[in-house]
Amino acid sequence: MEMQARAVLRLPWIFFLFLYTCADETANSTQVDDKVTCDRDHEYDSLDIRDVTGKWRAVELYMHLSKEGVKRYETCPKITVWETDEIPHTTTFGPSTENQLYHVQSIMAKFNQQHRHLRLLWDENGHMTEYSLFFRNESAGYWETFDKQNGSLAARPHYQQFTGTVQVLKAVKDHLVLNFCQAASNGAPAQLYSVLFSREPGPMPQWAITAVHNLLQTKNLSIASRRMVCGNGADKPMLSLLFSFMSCVLAYVSLS
Ligand SMILES: *[C@@H]1O[C@H](CO)[C@@H](O)[C@H](O)[C@H]1NC(C)=O
Ligand SMILES: *[C@@H]1O[C@H](CO)[C@@H](O)[C@H](O)[C@H]1NC(C)=O
Ligand SMILES: *[C@@H]1O[C@H](CO)[C@@H](O)[C@H](O)[C@H]1NC(C)=O
Ligand SMILES: *[C@@H]1O[C@H](CO)[C@@H](O)[C@H](O)[C@H]1NC(C)=O
Repeated sequence: MEMQARAVLRLPWIFFLFLYTCADETANSTQVDDKVTCDRDHEYDSLDIRDVTGKWRAVELYMHLSKEGVKRYETCPKITVWETDEIPHTTTFGPSTENQLYHVQSIMAKFNQQHRHLRLLWDENGHMTEYSLFFRNESAGYWETFDKQNGSLAARPHYQQFTGTVQVLKAVKDHLVLNFCQAASNGAPAQLYSVLFSREPGPMPQWAITAVHNLLQTKNLSIASRRMVCGNGADKPMLSLLFSFMSCVLAYVSLS
């Protein structure tokens, strides 16, 4: 049942905003594909889902399979996470007899007794994608894909399939780290990346970002390639001006 319930999940910000860089990544990722395994982390098994619901804005995206280095983007993707009782209606079953219909309904009823449903809405400058995920009470920080996602981003032609898992790597009051993992299968390339989100608008303190980098590195998740968004990683204008001025003064002083 779980295999059947898994459907299509994709990552809009990668394939829309970051379409071209991601194409490079997936084109040459075949050699690492075999190595991507999506291990379950048990640290957030007893997560209170209310700690992660609500609105978040992206701070950094870590492209673990890419060698693109550090880049900045002007855009500011936001997500909203909420729990729901509403089950997406699946069109894949298509039972033809009443007996089959009853069978499907009883399987679904059992599934819904054992799982809770979550939605993740990605908003990138008004372009939306809605993810449908599910999890168990005893592993609340481990979310699996339930159904296709919809929205204007998901409808784009280059939108690639993602059928993997989303895991909470860190959930504290003001920030959240999610890891997206999909092992290569049926010709679909492996995908592995993490996203740091913040509750508050504006740049996150550097010490908190550094702590997240350390966390990822202890999990063997490379931070060498990352994409800074929502104004994070931008130079402080006053500080850099002051620095240039001081450098000039120093150069002048040492020359004379
Ligand atoms: C991908 O690999 C091919 C052949 O190995 C190479 O020609 C190409 O430049 C690589 N592309 C990237 C983006 O690294
Ligand atoms: C999860 O736990 C809550 C509280 O303990 C309980 O009310 C709920 O029925 C459980 N849900 C599932 C799907 O096991
Ligand atoms: C996705 O579909 C659901 C159900 O039809 C709808 O309520 C929701 O608004 C859609 N989401 C987006 C982002 O279009
Ligand atoms: C990280 O990678 C190193 C070298 O490949 C390995 O020895 C180590 O066990 C890995 N650690 C984890 C937590 O996977």
